[in-house]
Amino acid sequence: MVDIAIIEQIAKKRGFIYPSSEIYGGLSGFFDFGHLGTLMKNKIENLWREFFIKSEENIFEISSRTIVPEAVWEASGHLKDFVDPITQCQKCKSMFRADTLIEEQTGKFVEGLNAKELTDIIKKENVKCPKCKSSLNEVRVFNLMLKTVVGPVEGNVAYLRPETAQGIFTNFNFIAKSTRAKLPFGVAQLGISYRNEISPRQWIIRLREFNQMEIEMFVHPKRLNECPKFSEVANKKIKLFTREEQKKDGKPIEITAEDAVKKGIIPNQWMAYFIVKELEWYQKLGIPLEALRHRHMLPEETPHYSKGNFDMEIKFDFGWKEVVGNAYRTDFDLTSHSKKSGKDMSLMEEEKVIPHVIEPSFGLERTLYGILLHCFVEDKERGWDWFKFPPKIAPYTVGVFPLVNKDGLNEKAKEIYEILKKQFDAFFDDSGSLGRRYARADEIGTLVSLTVDYQTSEDDTVTLRDRDTTRQIRVKIDELEGIILGILKGKKLEELGKLIN
Ligand code: GAP
Repeated sequence: MVDIAIIEQIAKKRGFIYPSSEIYGGLSGFFDFGHLGTLMKNKIENLWREFFIKSEENIFEISSRTIVPEAVWEASGHLKDFVDPITQCQKCKSMFRADTLIEEQTGKFVEGLNAKELTDIIKKENVKCPKCKSSLNEVRVFNLMLKTVVGPVEGNVAYLRPETAQGIFTNFNFIAKSTRAKLPFGVAQLGISYRNEISPRQWIIRLREFNQMEIEMFVHPKRLNECPKFSEVANKKIKLFTREEQKKDGKPIEITAEDAVKKGIIPNQWMAYFIVKELEWYQKLGIPLEALRHRHMLPEETPHYSKGNFDMEIKFDFGWKEVVGNAYRTDFDLTSHSKKSGKDMSLMEEEKVIPHVIEPSFGLERTLYGILLHCFVEDKERGWDWFKFPPKIAPYTVGVFPLVNKDGLNEKAKEIYEILKKQFDAFFDDSGSLGRRYARADEIGTLVSLTVDYQTSEDDTVTLRDRDTTRQIRVKIDELEGIILGILKGKKLEELGKLIN
């Protein structure tokens, strides 16, 4: 697998991802999307909408605010429980996440232990500051939410949301009324979340500001195993890293969605349904099946609101890491908000019920990291490396080039570009040799390169070069739209015209 430092460099140079505020030294845990990154982000989000919202009966998207009053976080439990253990070096004053540091230095898995237990291990195992090798202070807990004060009045405390989900729960009564939806129905939200991570790391893996794509699926508590489309996924296989296998350092088992529910490994059909769908979706993004698995979180890692969590993990250059969290949140959130706000959040079905919630929660930046890593092609033969992005998420669909910069070819290429860019993500390039322009287009994963040459003025045709095979077809200009649409649908170039090389 390619060293991620190479991808990071390319991402910065070409315009996928920049370190935020770098001219002032940057801010750890913050990265910006460049022009290519923004194109890809939008496409990933739209593909997610297509696959998880539009293909479903009853999922509605909302967009709530990122600054949320303290009362919400009291009710949700985040004020008390959304914490990480922290320890500080006595000499150089560097801060570390205590459990990660212990794991790194001793190999012991200590997630979920309390501050005193972690302090004892640090002393017993002689865990030291990794920077200056000095002793560490006692472990204390640190809340990961970023705090702010709203308006000029002191004491009006609010927090930047650490998940988009709470905006769905606080709006639940509005949503249920305005959509008139009956259970089961889902509410989705895409947007920014913030976490004051103690040690942001691994480029865009652990950030302090990141994008989530979440669904809260509200289900009648007695009908968790009546997922209407379950039959479509029942026989699909899941690679499941069970708790038992993790304890004995084993490996994931292969099991069908149906068996995983029947055997009580996955808590209900709804969760199994989303697990299979996300496996399919990530393959559409160019991540191979062998680099995907689901891990049952151990009890000590499971979030405070969940009665069972399954992480979808991707195999990265540094190891396996969660990219989607699937949680069975039960009625935890709605019940807590009902109690705290005094507002009834039950629904009248045949009886009064507080729905249970199944939540798949996707991280966009980690997804993008996975795509950049797994779609990167090191190509000695071609002479340059390139990205094999799937058609729907490639930042640019087509690059338009005049063969030479004279004899009216440039003007004709510009004319074609102006037309194409209204419908497709297209760019124009007339600098350097044609070979160099092909290379630049490949390097950012452009699906096809269109060249206007001397034959264009004779018969109104251009050449189209395929990124993956470098083969070309010659096509009529007035057929371009249909051909490019075909390419976006995944058709091969030779299905769309006669190969000329
Ligand atoms: N509402 C549930 C929730 O937020 P989570 O497992 O804490 O669950 C969901 O987060 C996803 O958000 C993760 O799988 C990951 O992809 C992404 N995520 C969480 N923390 C992140 C961070 N600090 N930086 C980048 N992505 C993060």
